Amino acid sequence: MATGTAANGFRGGLEGVVVAETALSEVDGANGRLVFRGHDLEALARTCRFEDVYGLLLEGALPGAAARRAIAERLGRARADAFARLPACGGALASANGMDALRAALAHFEDADGGAATHATLVGAAAVVAAAWARTRAGAELVAPDPARPHAEDFLRMATGAEPDPARAKALDAYLVTVAEHGMCASTFTARVVASTRSDLVSAVVAAVGALKGPLHGGAPGPVLDMLDAIGEPARAEAWLLGELAAGRRIMGLGHRVYRVRDPRAAVLEAAVERLEAAGVASRYLRLARAVERAAVEVLARRHPERRLETNVEFYTAVILDAVGFPRDLFTPTFAAARTVGWLAHAAEQLTEGRIIRPDQRYVGPRPEASPPVAHA
Ligand code: COA
Repeated sequence: MATGTAANGFRGGLEGVVVAETALSEVDGANGRLVFRGHDLEALARTCRFEDVYGLLLEGALPGAAARRAIAERLGRARADAFARLPACGGALASANGMDALRAALAHFEDADGGAATHATLVGAAAVVAAAWARTRAGAELVAPDPARPHAEDFLRMATGAEPDPARAKALDAYLVTVAEHGMCASTFTARVVASTRSDLVSAVVAAVGALKGPLHGGAPGPVLDMLDAIGEPARAEAWLLGELAAGRRIMGLGHRVYRVRDPRAAVLEAAVERLEAAGVASRYLRLARAVERAAVEVLARRHPERRLETNVEFYTAVILDAVGFPRDLFTPTFAAARTVGWLAHAAEQLTEGRIIRPDQRYVGPRPEASPPVAHA
């Protein structure tokens, strides 16, 4: 795959360009550290619920007990409202792709206040739509939300149709916390661009869903599981990976624009899978995934000694969401349901900044003097 370096040396991708100042997260690519508003991700994922990170990112601080209850109630109401609105979302749930379904369904919601009410509406709706799409795809009855339950537990219940196992609900909660925010990734940049035009929050989130869908961004975890299936056993990993590279394909779940060490979220999710196993829920893929990861890092280090390509978040996303009981085509919509919090927090920050995002270009096409005259009829 071409990496976009032109003959004149121009390299696209906005690498290293600072497009915003943010107090939301610090992505330290050299040291593999991720911080949300001054809190280390590792501790958040071990101890917090999704509701806590919602409060941290969208309301400015980790909530105390009463504030956490209020957020849970608001999200519960939002899930119930969204479920009631599903029939008015056109044919969205019939889409073959869950991200297409999410994009189409969320577009039916309105931005009520440009702020807190719309935040809850969109975060609640994203989980409801993702779960309802998975049920539709499986030919199963939709499961109505239970507003009294924590968000992750209810998401799991709506998506699988079963009474959630507490260890699995906890693992899903840890996943939602882990991926709720991640600096200026492509989808968050998209949301900020839309917000910078003073468009509405629904448009910002719908545009971000479109950006997240791509396999170089949030679309990678399903293909990671396909890769593990194709490899089958650790002894086959190296040969399979070399074959992929020889065919010009990328190894999914490896490499990152910012991290030059292992993505800290990979370790956080791997630890969450270990806790799940310790609670008696075995992962079908953990052992194989670890072996494939080791082989992939080695193979890529030989091929790219100039640039470290390490495991990214998507690798163990695949392992944890499979162990939670989600089908692989629900992985990216689940990512979107969590990241909606980050997108909205960035949109809110962008709105306080006040300038439209409008970068520049360099024209490299022909000059009029060099072009043949236009022939008029
Ligand atoms: N497998 C094989 N080669 C990879 C690779 C991967 N996963 N990731 C990067 N490379 C190679 C590129 O082919 C390129 O080599 P070249 O210069 O010989 O052409 C070199 O490493 C630099 O890649 P580049 O495309 O400049 O990196 P980037 O910062 O633009 O891209 C990603 C970052 C994440 C898009 C890229 O690493 C990737 O495609 N990873 C796989 C998809 C994935 O897991 N996405 C989820 C991200 S969280």
